[in-house]
Amino acid sequence: MAGTLSAKVAFISGAGSGIGRASAELFAAEGAQIIAVDIDGAALAETVSKIQQQGYGAEARECDVTDEGAVKQLIGDILAKYGRLDCAFNNVGVMGQPAALGDTSLADWQRVLTVNLTSVFLCMKYQIPPMQQQGHGAIVNTASGAGVVGMATLSPYSASKHGVLGLTKSAALEYATSHIRVNAICPGTTDTPFLRAGINGDKATEDYLRSSLTSDGQFGQPMQVAEAALWLCSDRASWVSGESMFVDGGFVCR
Ligand SMILES: NC(=O)c1ccc[n+]([C@@H]2O[C@H](COP(=O)([O-])OP(=O)(O)OC[C@H]3O[C@@H](n4cnc5c(N)ncnc54)[C@H](O)[C@@H]3O)[C@@H](O)[C@H]2O)c1
Repeated sequence: MAGTLSAKVAFISGAGSGIGRASAELFAAEGAQIIAVDIDGAALAETVSKIQQQGYGAEARECDVTDEGAVKQLIGDILAKYGRLDCAFNNVGVMGQPAALGDTSLADWQRVLTVNLTSVFLCMKYQIPPMQQQGHGAIVNTASGAGVVGMATLSPYSASKHGVLGLTKSAALEYATSHIRVNAICPGTTDTPFLRAGINGDKATEDYLRSSLTSDGQFGQPMQVAEAALWLCSDRASWVSGESMFVDGGFVCR
């Protein structure tokens, strides 16, 4: 797969941590110029400096992807500097406060929906027009296994990820004739700060999660998810659009 994204300009959000960071490293090693995006400037700087030390191209752009003005400005800056945007991996997400639906606050519902779903809408809204103009583009949005099954105590999260899949499929249909492919990945339990925050040091929760895995009880690694995003962003997936790809060791297929 060497050079799979050679000379492509790639936007990756959530690049300060976990799956986004691994993807930034992998896409860069595969030849892409990375625009690494995150709300956490310090974490982002770490990602980008590691990539640059390896001699690959990456720049850090601190941005809250729920802020329409900031997203519009960022995409405008990318176009002004590079002249195009070939790939976008819209990947930010938060879990929200675990609670039964009746105990979930409106504020938590709104925060999870805004970060997980509205951000994908906003990013695609500004990524798609330049892709239309240049005549090609590949977008990957991060959903979750919780995008196709319910999750007790995480109803806003599950609803937001179902929404990401609906948005992905609708955009795939709308822009197929513009040669823009829009796909989603659905990671399973992947060992990142997001998962560790959810486990919150509770051994019983961790044991339960491990025991429910269909594979060997091992959590996925961010790089295993990044590999799927890389393929979907690459020209090797040239006839794949509207797909929801599970990257979960077979967890949801049972
Ligand atoms: N880790 C898992 O087990 C798992 C499973 C299924 C789906 N996912 C999804 O994968 C994606 C990445 O998860 P991760 O595990 O790498 O999480 P993570 O918490 O390690 O990384 C998420 C990054 O997103 C950034 N971010 C959050 N809000 C932002 C905003 N408004 N603007 C810009 N950046 C923002 C954070 O600062 C962080 O760096 C998320 O969408 C998550 O829902 C994760």
